[in-house]
Amino acid sequence: MSAKKFYANAQAYDLAFSDREFDTECDFLIYCLEKYGKLKNQDEKSYLEMACGPARHAREFAKRGWRSVGLDISEDMIAYAFDETKKENLNVEYLVADMVKFKLNKKVALATTLMESIAHLVTNEQMVAHFKSVAKNLKKGGLYIIEATHPMFFFPDGEANTWKTRVNGTHVEVTFGLPTDHYDSVTQQWMLTSKLHIKQKNGADIVTEARHPVRWYLAQEMRALIELSGVWSKYWFFGSMYFTPPKPLDDSEDSDAMVIVLRK
Ligand SMILES: C[S@@+](CC[C@H](N)C(=O)[O-])C[C@H]1O[C@@H](n2cnc3c(N)ncnc32)[C@H](O)[C@@H]1O
Repeated sequence: MSAKKFYANAQAYDLAFSDREFDTECDFLIYCLEKYGKLKNQDEKSYLEMACGPARHAREFAKRGWRSVGLDISEDMIAYAFDETKKENLNVEYLVADMVKFKLNKKVALATTLMESIAHLVTNEQMVAHFKSVAKNLKKGGLYIIEATHPMFFFPDGEANTWKTRVNGTHVEVTFGLPTDHYDSVTQQWMLTSKLHIKQKNGADIVTEARHPVRWYLAQEMRALIELSGVWSKYWFFGSMYFTPPKPLDDSEDSDAMVIVLRK
């Protein structure tokens, strides 16, 4: 099953990954835009969430009165996000597109790719093309913020990456990588096994399984790709979206992600 197919079960995905503080994460993103952005018109409030999945952040920005856009390669994810947006009576513009190359109707002030979704770009060429495309759709002085996997998780630990969560009485078991997954040390790509096991109240379980290529990035190779793209005027590496002001990316307990802030 491809990544597209796995994410087709959008509702199951949403259940599995909804145990996060979306409003705190959005506060962090806005703090960064105010502190590190250099927009000419500070009133411009527009946001793009790439690889948006259920578009929790795009919806939160819309709630706060921002012009908000959600982009994802999966039609099913976008359909699900659209329905949730309607239920909340919000206004988010949606786009089914590949984040490697896309075009928005109107440029935005702030763009993001959150929760390791950048790992879906598996070659240097894809990453550089992606940077160029994001920059084209961003206002001058605007920011692109990536929440990527912390480099300390680059090397495998031989353990299955499995966790359990419970949302509104529904139990979900998520597996995001097995020790048996094939790793190609030259391309640095994992053929990652993802599984979602939803234990529903009525006893009918939903199980989805997929295998798709992902790549984790080291900080120095990310820096090299940022420089190679030639589209960012300044950039910063931080260690979490849960501290404002942000703390630097390092090996301390406070660093749990690689948060890259890029200014056009
Ligand atoms: C981990 S999920 C996303 C989650 C969302 N950002 C969040 O914070 O919950 C990854 C998403 O990336 C999307 N995706 C994968 N490759 C993509 C690409 N090349 N362009 C756009 N979206 C992509 C998938 O369809 C999926 O919805």
